[in-house]
Amino acid sequence: MASAKSVSVRAATQADLAAITGLQEAGFGMRYGGDEDEFRGEIFPVDRSLVAVEGDRIVGHTVDRTMTVTVPGERTVRAAGVSGVAVASTHRRRGILRELYTAQHARTEADGLPLTIFTASEGTIYGRFGYEVTILDTSISIDTRRSEFRSTTPDPGGVILETLADAAPRIREIYERWQQVTSGAQDRPDAKWGMFFADVERHRQGATSLFVLLHADGYALYRRSRREGRDICSVWEFRAVTPDAHAALWRVLLGMDLVDTVEAEIADDDPLAHMLTDPRAVQLTHRGDALWARVMDVPAALTARTYRADLDTVLAVHDPFRSAGGNFALRIRDGVAECEPTTRTATVSLDINILGALYFGGQRASTFAAAHRIKVDDPTVLRAFGEAFTADRAPQLGWFF
Ligand SMILES: CC(C)(COP(=O)(O)OP(=O)(O)OC[C@H]1O[C@@H](n2cnc3c(N)ncnc32)[C@H](O)[C@@H]1OP(=O)(O)O)[C@@H](O)C(=O)NCCC(=O)NCCS
Repeated sequence: MASAKSVSVRAATQADLAAITGLQEAGFGMRYGGDEDEFRGEIFPVDRSLVAVEGDRIVGHTVDRTMTVTVPGERTVRAAGVSGVAVASTHRRRGILRELYTAQHARTEADGLPLTIFTASEGTIYGRFGYEVTILDTSISIDTRRSEFRSTTPDPGGVILETLADAAPRIREIYERWQQVTSGAQDRPDAKWGMFFADVERHRQGATSLFVLLHADGYALYRRSRREGRDICSVWEFRAVTPDAHAALWRVLLGMDLVDTVEAEIADDDPLAHMLTDPRAVQLTHRGDALWARVMDVPAALTARTYRADLDTVLAVHDPFRSAGGNFALRIRDGVAECEPTTRTATVSLDINILGALYFGGQRASTFAAAHRIKVDDPTVLRAFGEAFTADRAPQLGWFF
C-alpha cells in the first residue's frame, strides 16, 4: 500500500486536465456534461490546480480562484475560493489532503490573501485546518394553498416573465447590485455567468429549463417539475435588492396557477414567513452550511470588514494548522478596526476557526462561548465582542463553488 511519502504535490498543467476531471467525477460520484467543459476550465483554470501524484498517476487535487467577497459594511475582501478537492478512493486517509492543503495555504499566503473560503462536502474534515462554518443556508417549501399574504404586505407589481437570453444583462446588473450590499456574496466571473445562462442539462435534474421573473430591482429564476403527484416550482436563484422587489417576486411565485409547492433557499433573516397570514406555510426542509471560512492573516482580515460597535480587546488566537495565531490588540472605533500583534495579556481566547465563523457577521460570539469555544472571563467583554462582530443583515453565499 502506497503511503503519502510516495506521493508528491505539484502545480498542474493542461496535460493533467482529463485525469483531474476523472478524479473529481469519481470523488463526487457524478459526471460533468460536455456542455460544461468550456466554462469549468475558465472558472477554475488548471494553472490554479495543485495535484498530488504517485509516479505518473494523479491521486489528489485542489484548485482555487481569487474571489472578491462582500463583508459587513459593504466593503470587500479578496479571498481564495477553494474547490474541486478530491483524493482517489484508493489513496484515502494517508495524509494526501493534508499535503495538498499545506501547499494550498502556502500559495494563498504567497498571494497575500487574508481569507480562504469554500463549500464543504462533509462537516468533519476541515475544522482541523482552522475552518469553521460562516454562512448557513435554509431551504424552504411552501404549500401554495396555505400561502395567503397579509393585508399589510405590499403588492408593488412590476414583474415580467422574460426569456433567459433577453433577461441576461439585467440579471447580471441586478446580481452585482445585490452582491455589493450582501455580506458573503462573491463576484461572479464571466465563465460562471456563461454556465448559468447556458442552463446546463446536469443542473435540471429532470425539471424544465429556467423560467425568469424579472423586476427592476430583483429576479427569480425557477424550474417546474412534477414529483409524487405534486406540481413543483423550484426557485433556482432569487435576488432582490429592495423590499418591493422581494414582495413583488414572491407574490408572483406563490400566486402561480397549477403549482402545489414552491421550493427555495432563503437567507436567515428573510421576512417571507411574516408576510403571510399563516407563517407555518413556510416549512423548513433543510438547514445546512453554505460556506466555510479560514482567516489566513488576522490583522489583514479583521481590518478588511467593519463592525457594529466600538471595542478594545486583546485576542489570543490559536491556529491548529498554520502559524497565523498569536496575541492581537483589536481596537474598533466607528466601525473601523485597527489590529496588530501584541505582547499584552489576552481577554478573549479562541481558535482561529471562530474568527472565520464570525467573519461575515451571521453567527453569534455568545453561541460559541456557550459551546466553550470562546474563553472570556468577563461577560461584559463577551457582550461587547459579540455586538461588534454581529452584522445587521444575515450573510448569504453568492454562488456555490
Ligand atoms: C475528503 C477527502 C479529500 C480526504 O482526503 P484524504 O487524503 O483521505 O485526507 P487525509 O488523509 O489527508 O486526512 C487528513 C485528516 O482529515 C481526516 N479526514 C479526512 N477525510 C475525512 C472525512 N471524510 N471525515 C472525517 N475525517 C476526515 C483524516 O482522518 C485526517 O485526520 P487527522 O488530522 O486526525 O490525521 C477524500 O476522502 C475525498 O476525496 N472524498 C470525496 C470527495 C470530497 O468529499 N471532497 C471534499 C470536498 S470539500
